[in-house]
Amino acid sequence: MALSIVILAAGQGKRMKSKLPKVLHTIGGIPLLEHVIKTADNLNPDIPPIVIYGHQGSTVKNSLGHLKVIWVEQLQQLGTGHALLQALPYIPKDDRVLVLYGDVPFISKTTLKRFIQHTSLQAIGIITADFADPAGLGRIIRDNNDRIINIIEEKDLTEFERNITEINSGIYLFPAHFLQYALPKIQNNNAQKEYYLTDVIKMAEQKDMTIQSIHPEDANEVHGINDLIQLANLERVFQRQQAENLMRSGVTLRDPSRFDLRGELNCGQDVVIDINVIIEGKVTIGNHCIIGPNTILRNVTIGDHVEIKANSILEDSEVANGCHIGPFARLRPESILAPHSHIGNFVEIKKSKIGEGTKINHLSYIGDSEIGRDVNIGAGTITCNYDGVNKHRTIIGNNAFIGSNSSLVAPLTIAEYATIGAGSTITQHAPSHQLTLGRAKQISVEHWKRPTKKES
Ligand code: UD1
Ligand code: CA
Repeated sequence: MALSIVILAAGQGKRMKSKLPKVLHTIGGIPLLEHVIKTADNLNPDIPPIVIYGHQGSTVKNSLGHLKVIWVEQLQQLGTGHALLQALPYIPKDDRVLVLYGDVPFISKTTLKRFIQHTSLQAIGIITADFADPAGLGRIIRDNNDRIINIIEEKDLTEFERNITEINSGIYLFPAHFLQYALPKIQNNNAQKEYYLTDVIKMAEQKDMTIQSIHPEDANEVHGINDLIQLANLERVFQRQQAENLMRSGVTLRDPSRFDLRGELNCGQDVVIDINVIIEGKVTIGNHCIIGPNTILRNVTIGDHVEIKANSILEDSEVANGCHIGPFARLRPESILAPHSHIGNFVEIKKSKIGEGTKINHLSYIGDSEIGRDVNIGAGTITCNYDGVNKHRTIIGNNAFIGSNSSLVAPLTIAEYATIGAGSTITQHAPSHQLTLGRAKQISVEHWKRPTKKES
């Protein structure tokens, strides 16, 4: 029997108190809905997952337009039953239908596979869990023989039913033909005046259908997100899992609870990551590297034996073997460091190539530049790359020496083995093997006297 997957994601998420549609809020930098779509894809359904979208639909669709899904709009958000009804025209009538929720992001492939295997073909399956605090969730009602006979929403519970701790995860398996029968019959005479999908359980019970259930491996898999507190809690759970996966693969995390990965990190052997490091996008780190505290790495590739000291920010850059960076260094996009170069404190590099063994150790700005091998850039050197309209390039040859506090006005070339005197403003080519200076000549005024305080 073929499998169709429907993901309900049209709700507004009122309790989030946010303009952003709920399913676009992120965990680990990935929208909630994308987590669910990825899991659905991993089950290899016969047709792409059907996503029911609605509230601020175009924002949702535009953000996730790159994913292969069938988008079906629910024009008015009248409830989960009404939402699933919108998917029916796209589902072959002999299929089984797996229903997932866009706001229950961590249901695992393993649990879903077990769920699909465990549920008989003509039965209804529900993933349920026992929650110590079931507040806000639909409760599973069972008869004396432990058979599921109904699901009741929190707002419709009687005092007695409120004590039930078995909750509805919102994840179900249905034979498509049953949905065709039951969904159009759902009424909205309940506390919230919504068409509840949960009402089909009672209809199934009346038709003597078998209703089966399983628990997930881990209760976190069925935690839904309805407000920003639940979002933050699940973010921590997710980060802890990622941190543990990294530690299992041999990465030392000085404190796994102070580490955030919002993307993909690939590490070689003996990488040590200190506290409060944030990794975003796609980051690769080689062998024997140390990443200092409070460092942010976004889409960077780092070679072997690299040390990044505290409080550095690297973005869209490449760092080769043996480089030393920071503390307080900033590599902006398109910075490419050759092996063994040193970028020190309060140095900003942008769109520049830095040659092998070159040192830029203190308080500099290097932008739109190409710097050769074994160059020494003194403290306070600035490439003046912008004339107010256009950006210009600075080219510095191998073994050049730039004295401290120099302004290099681009476009500019400085030849190999050129030396620039400290405090210079350089506007023209500096030749090889010569000292080039561009500063006022030093004078000393003889017989000069310091002013004295006037009597009043
Ligand atoms: C729902 C279940 C509840 C279960 C809980 C698990 C119902 C009636 N209740 O409650 O039993 O314990 O999930 O998390 O089903 N949605 C639409 N269109 C709509 C309404 C909702 O697509 O018109 C989507 C939402 O985007 C969301 C999902 O359906 O992804 C669940 O909706 P939500 O309003 O959050 O339901 P809960 O109150 O959490
Ligand atoms: Ca919910």
